[in-house]
Amino acid sequence: MEVKTSLLDNMIGVGDMVLLEPLNEDSFIMNLRNRFDHNEIYTYIGSVVISMNPYRSLPIYTPQKVEEYRNRNFYELSPHIYALADEAYRSLRDQDKDQCILITGESGAGKTEASKLVMSYVAAVCGKGQEVNKVKEQLLQSNPVLEAFGNAKTMRNDNSSRFGKYMDIEFDFKGDPLGGVISNYLLEKSRVCKQPRGERNFHIFYQLLSGASDDTLMKLKLDRDFSKYNYLSLDSANVNGLDDAASFRTVRNAMQIVGFMEAEVQSVLELVAAVLKLGNIEFKPESRVNGFDESRVKDKNDLKEMCELLGIEQSVLERAFSYRTVEAKMEKMSTTLNVAQAYYARDALAKNLYSRLFSWLVTRINESIKAQAKTRHKVMGVLDIYGFEIFEDNSFEQFIINYCNEKLQQIFIELTLREEQEEYIREDIEWTNIEYFNNAVICDLIENNQNGILAMLDEECLRPGTVTDDTFLDKLNTICAEHQHFESRLNKNSKFLTDHSLPHSCFRIQHYAGKVLYRVEGFVDKNNDLLYRDLSQAMYKATHSLMRQLFPEGNPAKVNLKRPPTAGFQFKASVGVLMKNLQTKNPNYIRCIKPNDKKVAHIFTDSLVCHQVRYLGLVENVRVRRAGYAFRQPYESCLERYKMLCKKTWPQWRGPARDGVEVLLTDCSVPTEEFAYGRSKIFIRNPRTLFTLEERRGACLEDLATLIQKIYRGWKSRTHFLLLKKSQVVVAAWYRRYAQQNKYQKIKSATLVMQSFIRGWKARNILRQLKYEKRCKEAVTTIAAYWHGTQVRREYRKFFRANAGKKIYDFTIQRIMQKYFLGLKTTTMSPMDNTWPAKPYGFLEGAHTQLRRIFHLWRCKKYRGQFTEEKKAVYEEKLEASEIFKDKKALYPSSVSQPFKGDYLEIQKNPKYQKLNSAMEEKVLLADLVNKINRANGKGSPRLFLLTKSNFVLADQKTGQVKASVPLPDLASVSVSTQSDGFFALKLKEGSASASKGDFLLSSEHLIEIITKLHRIGTTAADRDQINIDISDEFLVQFKQDKVCVKFIQGGPKNGNSAACKRKNNRLLEVSVPSP
Ligand SMILES: Nc1ncnc2c1ncn2[C@@H]1O[C@H](COP(=O)(O)OP(=O)(O)OP(=O)(O)O)[C@@H](O)[C@H]1O
Ligand SMILES: [Mg+2]
Repeated sequence: MEVKTSLLDNMIGVGDMVLLEPLNEDSFIMNLRNRFDHNEIYTYIGSVVISMNPYRSLPIYTPQKVEEYRNRNFYELSPHIYALADEAYRSLRDQDKDQCILITGESGAGKTEASKLVMSYVAAVCGKGQEVNKVKEQLLQSNPVLEAFGNAKTMRNDNSSRFGKYMDIEFDFKGDPLGGVISNYLLEKSRVCKQPRGERNFHIFYQLLSGASDDTLMKLKLDRDFSKYNYLSLDSANVNGLDDAASFRTVRNAMQIVGFMEAEVQSVLELVAAVLKLGNIEFKPESRVNGFDESRVKDKNDLKEMCELLGIEQSVLERAFSYRTVEAKMEKMSTTLNVAQAYYARDALAKNLYSRLFSWLVTRINESIKAQAKTRHKVMGVLDIYGFEIFEDNSFEQFIINYCNEKLQQIFIELTLREEQEEYIREDIEWTNIEYFNNAVICDLIENNQNGILAMLDEECLRPGTVTDDTFLDKLNTICAEHQHFESRLNKNSKFLTDHSLPHSCFRIQHYAGKVLYRVEGFVDKNNDLLYRDLSQAMYKATHSLMRQLFPEGNPAKVNLKRPPTAGFQFKASVGVLMKNLQTKNPNYIRCIKPNDKKVAHIFTDSLVCHQVRYLGLVENVRVRRAGYAFRQPYESCLERYKMLCKKTWPQWRGPARDGVEVLLTDCSVPTEEFAYGRSKIFIRNPRTLFTLEERRGACLEDLATLIQKIYRGWKSRTHFLLLKKSQVVVAAWYRRYAQQNKYQKIKSATLVMQSFIRGWKARNILRQLKYEKRCKEAVTTIAAYWHGTQVRREYRKFFRANAGKKIYDFTIQRIMQKYFLGLKTTTMSPMDNTWPAKPYGFLEGAHTQLRRIFHLWRCKKYRGQFTEEKKAVYEEKLEASEIFKDKKALYPSSVSQPFKGDYLEIQKNPKYQKLNSAMEEKVLLADLVNKINRANGKGSPRLFLLTKSNFVLADQKTGQVKASVPLPDLASVSVSTQSDGFFALKLKEGSASASKGDFLLSSEHLIEIITKLHRIGTTAADRDQINIDISDEFLVQFKQDKVCVKFIQGGPKNGNSAACKRKNNRLLEVSVPSP
């Protein structure tokens, strides 16, 4: 929604001077000052904008500001130049009204800046597009070019426009710019040759010397040093804040954008250089025979260079500086020039050259920016022209300028009044005549064709005879004497005779803005503005094409004897054209005011402002504006602004706005004479009324503000509460959610734990079950496999390899066994042979030993099987001997190997024993030679010992006579020692028949055989007891009378190998047996 605002909002002082109460010069200036101090540099007088130069950049020209003011009504926002530009542009675009913007003010007041602001605003708000942008850019860039050539630093302004400028910007029906036309007025060309102290020549000279490249300068035959040029004032060549070199680049760039060709730019710079060179040409007098001095060029170098630059023949120019051709009555006469005239001619040439160059530039720019389309254009003119000038010393220029301003004032008043009147008519309001000062009379004083000052000046200039400024003043004194605005000392009007403020060589005009004293000196010359024809012809002869263009009158083919129009005449004419032009347009005024003389910010010099306010006629302007009704406003905006003052119109009036305003004003009891109802606007006569309304509005606004505040606070609190409530609900919801989430998470994790346990348990169960089943299955499978195996093996055993294996095994075993058994074969059959092959295999260990045993037994059996009966008996005896003596008697081992012969005596064969043999009843089992031990000395006596089945016999060895025959049953026992002796005792049973002979102690080499046989007989005989055999080393022997103990001891070697028996005492026989 667009916010409706008003100029009246937040006003500092009053934004529109029309509302000033009380209205007088002081309050006017106070208001300006007040606003200026608050950076409000713009103030309105109705639709006129007063602009104070802030002398600093304010942040009020930003693109945002442009947007702010765009399409807003003039009084809607605080005063601004943009508001005026917007109003002008919109009424041009929408209402098809050509506009002109008239910017006036004194030098340095900000006219040129204002014109640029207007142009840039219009450029910003108008249409866009490639072509349009190009046009805009060209229009805007024409400024830097013209400023470089037409502006200069003056005491009052560092960038003072030294020409008047009017620019028509042309738009199409849509409001897009098409092009433009620039008109220039009266360039201050005297500045080219001479500048007042502290001022400079036109910017371009300094810019060229500072900014051009060395190469360019060389081509132009220039030197960078300002001091080398007479036309450049030195004391202020460098101006603070001006960068000439940078500006030169800007200007060149701008020229390019505007459409200058490179050659054209070069030509222009050559002419600028030529002017500088021209200034350096100096003259010296040369005496002539006729007594007159004739001028000669002093140093021809500069002249030469200038001629080279412009392509002029040096001699021609040189001559033109020494002679002058005068044509009178069709005759040509040549007169010499003195030095002063030569300088005059030189300066005239420089001024003309420069001003014509400037005009050519304007024409050239116009060529570029002119609208292409031939359709009807809408036009907005911007006039940036010098303001009223009142100096101490005012000359022709000031006169012309002030005349122009006088004309502008006239048109201003005319147009303002016309507009005012038109509005009254339009609004159907009764027109009350307004008293105002009409300056037409002053204009008439100056421009009247018969007796106007300009006409008289022209008359004087054209008049033959001696014409001086004084003759001109005289003429004025005669002709204008009666004019009420003309004052002169020598006037017929005697009242000034004693006015010492009015010097004799001056006249004074009472301009609308004040009295101005003009010094007549130079009026005639300046008006004549003569350039000797010789010079223009010399210039025309130049080969430089631009130069030729600038001096067309030098063309000898077009010699015009008529004098060129005077400067005054030309100016008057162009002002006339301008005024006509302006009158057809809707005017918009910008009145620029300069706050101080120092060109600095924040200083407001009352006297200076007062002076400007006065000559600009601003207070007068307000009066005119307020003559009828001070303030007017469309009904709609009035109702919008004050509707809160009346209950009926608040908050909304339904119905025509006019009725609403009527109701409102009636309700507010505003006196009826204070306002008038127009067609579309309400007219308020007195600013007071408006301010009363404003005050009441302010108070009302406060109440409304309170109300709004109240409602707003209520709304805010409510909203806040609702927000809190909502937030609380949200927070609670979130919290609950959070808590529930937490709880849920806990339950979930607990559940998960439980679940996992249960699942684990279940899984383990299942696993166990599965494992069991698996095992069962495996078992079943194994069983089945085995069973099947068995089945299959059973069925297929015969095919099985295992069988083969067993067979191989058996076979191998058999083979092993065979080999083993065959290996055993080598063993001898002797039972005595103890050898037995080592066992070849561990597994045969048991069998091996068993076999060994079995084999041995078998071998023995075999061995035994071979035995005869006798041999068998022999072995049986041997066996018995073994049973009796083995390990009991040391003699035994030696007897084993001796065969038991039995009959050692060969008793049957030996005839010696024939008798004895025959004495034996039974078969002699044993016949051997023994020693019978004598009890008395222990010595042995040999006896034959014979044994039969039933008895033993002892016989004499020599005779063979039986000495004793003892039946075996009488034999009780046999005693032997344990040692290797052959002693034995045969003990008889006591009481038996044989006992009387006593026991026998015998010794034999075949003891073992004897006793074995004895024992054997006892075993085999059924009727007898077994013979006891005592084996002991001490035993008793019953000799006939008594018993003797036989004791066996281990004897030493002295006894020889055989045992020796000795009688120890009666009862003891000791047998010493040799140690083994
Ligand atoms: N609106 C503005 N904001 C900031 N500075 C400004 C403004 N207007 C003017 N100035 C300053 O004042 C100086 C003089 O302004 P400007 O050249 O527009 O004066 P002028 O009225 O055209 O003078 P002249 O008649 O000598 O040409 C400018 O160079 C600029 O520094
Ligand atoms: Mg200017």
